[in-house]
Amino acid sequence: MNEPYLTGHYAPVADETTATDLVVEGTLPPELTGRLIRNSHNPKPGITPTHWFKGSGMVHGIRLRDGRAEWYRNRWVHTPALDGAPYMTEHGPDLTASTAGTHVIEHAGRLLALCESALPFELTADLETVGAFDWDGKLTSAMTAHPKEDPVTGELHFFASSPFPPYLIHHVSSPDGQVLRSREVPGASAALKHDFVITEHHVVFLEGSVTFDAAEHSGIPYAWSETQESRIGVMPREAGGAPEVRWFGVEPGFAMHFANAYEDALGRIVIEGPTVGRSAWQRSWNWWVGAPDRGAEPTSGSRARRWTVDLAAGRVREEQIDDLTVEFPTINEAYTGREHRYQYALSFPDDLGIGNHTLVKYDRRTGGRQQLPFGNGQLPGEAVFVQADGATEEDAGYLLTVVSDLNADASKMLVLDAFDLSAAPVATVRLPRRVPAMIHGSWIPDGGAR
Ligand SMILES: [Fe+2]
Repeated sequence: MNEPYLTGHYAPVADETTATDLVVEGTLPPELTGRLIRNSHNPKPGITPTHWFKGSGMVHGIRLRDGRAEWYRNRWVHTPALDGAPYMTEHGPDLTASTAGTHVIEHAGRLLALCESALPFELTADLETVGAFDWDGKLTSAMTAHPKEDPVTGELHFFASSPFPPYLIHHVSSPDGQVLRSREVPGASAALKHDFVITEHHVVFLEGSVTFDAAEHSGIPYAWSETQESRIGVMPREAGGAPEVRWFGVEPGFAMHFANAYEDALGRIVIEGPTVGRSAWQRSWNWWVGAPDRGAEPTSGSRARRWTVDLAAGRVREEQIDDLTVEFPTINEAYTGREHRYQYALSFPDDLGIGNHTLVKYDRRTGGRQQLPFGNGQLPGEAVFVQADGATEEDAGYLLTVVSDLNADASKMLVLDAFDLSAAPVATVRLPRRVPAMIHGSWIPDGGAR
């Protein structure tokens, strides 16, 4: 088996399991009462997807309560696609034929497994599949895997991106999940949009150099284009009259994820996220489809970047802000859309090979960074920030990460002190099996509030 996304840290597991009363080393803070749930592509045994992202989704959950780790369980998201239903039908895409393997969030008490080309899939608290969720028929498009919850209003902003018109729709769901307003974003193109950002007053999309390409036969019909204009679109996020978008040209590139965005004191929009150029994109893509000339990792040459959009002057300043290869940026989500000081990310050693992954903490105020190295055969997953009880500082909290351990054929969940990555782990939860690496996940606290 040659596909890199079916081997090593990424090798799928073959079954669904449940384990209770997990071994905990250290002390789990009592405020960590809830569930860490993460999602990844985990095709059934015997199935070889044509693209990493075509693998069926499997969620892994760890239930913590009052200092104990009550259970671990993993479940496929049981969508029609898991049983072989095709996404493309003679009537167009079947939005219920989802891999549901990219992310998992909670919104208005519903646990939703996400994949950008389809409807979300609702799960029970114990990770069993309920079914596709379409806001009682009001959502008639796909839903991005990267919605943004405004920490002040509680609204959930998200979008639908499609290679066919309408190319881009902005949706907003109320905190109680009852109201959905939807507006087509004028002037958008078929450029691939995996993530976006919100600020206090705007929604912001980046259309990069990757766009729809019917000649791409991996099942994910996108490719780098030398003719696709790279640009940033800024749209007022509140309804009122016809939506207006201002587009600003930027340098060619592609950003898979964003750390955050905000409006600075001068009213400029500051956006940060890892970005690739053409060769790095192609090496990553080749890894994702198992083609030759691929990088050693799913992420190649992705560098943290900042765009500052000056709406008054009508121009964008761009800068690379670090030289590490990083991906999976996260922040304290209480700062979503507002100025953040700290960003967390995973660094990939790229061609240096397994054993050199680190968790990085960036301090935007000092310009410094701290790195926590992981040992040989250890691959940390995206770090999810959870605020400590009574926290007054942005980084007073915990980083939760599930580490795939190839040496032990096992995994562990680390609870790290976000204030100081060099401190010993606050707690380690031993998991009963190896949890395959990646992709995204969420901490779902009891009681619903983030
Ligand atoms: Fe993503």
